[in-house]
Amino acid sequence: MTECPTAGEPHVHPALAGRVSPVSFDPEATIPETGVDVLLDAARLAPSAGNSQPWMFVVGRRGDAIHARICRHLTPGSLRWAADASLLVVNIAHVMVEGTEWEYSEFARYDLGQAVAHMTVQALAMGLGAHQFRAFDRDGMAAEFAVPAEWEVTSVTAFGAAEATSATSYAGTSRQRLSLDEVTWARASAD
Ligand SMILES: Cc1cc2nc3c(=O)[nH]c(=O)nc-3n(C[C@H](O)[C@H](O)[C@H](O)COP(=O)(O)O)c2cc1C
Repeated sequence: MTECPTAGEPHVHPALAGRVSPVSFDPEATIPETGVDVLLDAARLAPSAGNSQPWMFVVGRRGDAIHARICRHLTPGSLRWAADASLLVVNIAHVMVEGTEWEYSEFARYDLGQAVAHMTVQALAMGLGAHQFRAFDRDGMAAEFAVPAEWEVTSVTAFGAAEATSATSYAGTSRQRLSLDEVTWARASAD
């Protein structure tokens, strides 16, 4: 047997270990269109069940008309920090086949989550922070962008330059994590 060359590394990659969902973004920082394309490309390249790619995104850069329309549907609590982000992306899952009772993919939300995760990791590589959130009016957002019933507006991600204070001033739920034991259902014990 050959051990995979770097698979014995004892630490999570520093970019992931140091990742936080920032609650403070630089209101002056901008992401150029090319950067936005790269973030969307990262999502586009994510794996999905049967390569179904059950996702679409509404993309608003701070200052443009789409951004303003997204902001209309955020809760006051989200708006406080998310409005400063350089980019807001509404994440939408294709859950049903148009005009039928059939699921488009039983993994639609799973796949969307994975595409969004790809985007957030790409953001880390670009030196950007990313904060996903659900505190917005889902029905209002769907109506705003004429999203049909077969698609589900699932979450929003705010991207931008995280302000230095945000790593320690997380305003949401606890950042504490379950232990390895608590998340491992079954695993043979090491000899
Ligand atoms: C699907 C989803 C919904 C979330 N909703 C909110 C939200 O409404 N407001 C908020 O401040 N953070 C929200 N978060 C961020 C989480 O609270 C955060 O990821 C978690 O507390 C862990 O913190 P960390 O990302 O900084 O490690 C959400 C994250 C996910 C993945």
